[in-house]
Amino acid sequence: MNNIVLIGFMGAGKSTVGKALAARFEFNFVDADEAIEKEEQRSISEIFSQDGETHFRQLEADFIKNQFHNVVLATGGGMPCHHENIDRLKTIGTTIYLQASPENLAQRLWLERKRRPLIKTIESVEELVEFINIKLTDRALFYEKADVVVEVGNKASCEVVDELFTLIKNLK
Ligand code: S3P
Repeated sequence: MNNIVLIGFMGAGKSTVGKALAARFEFNFVDADEAIEKEEQRSISEIFSQDGETHFRQLEADFIKNQFHNVVLATGGGMPCHHENIDRLKTIGTTIYLQASPENLAQRLWLERKRRPLIKTIESVEELVEFINIKLTDRALFYEKADVVVEVGNKASCEVVDELFTLIKNLK
């Protein structure tokens, strides 16, 4: 097994960091949401509105039954918190939780909330912070099972990538 699995809330930077990290390790980058969209030939928003969240969670669980080799996998924010996915993810590779505060995540997410079905109808930053607060309380239990927890806070993604690159090299 030689994979890196990034987990964390929407907006934590899993895809941006994942792409750059994959380039540094000369691994392939896999974005779970994108892979599911490709497989389904429709967007995550369409999957949610046409078939509901439960169906999407099943697609996520099915997706990680695949085999991965030399891959950086960016998971969807809810993936580790449904089915037994966190256990499966931990067998796929080194799991890394990109952690950030609700205020920080809300700032990062506000302008892109429309393409995320769970937050697209939220109408103010305050409401978004509140939503994240509640969800994170449930999800932290799963996220914190990661092998490594990295605070992303206000850091630029290149800074997070440098930090992770060093950290992972030293784990090996
Ligand atoms: C979700 C996060 C999204 C996507 C879907 C549900 C969640 O992925 O899987 O909209 O439940 O947090 P990102 O974390 O990549 O935005």
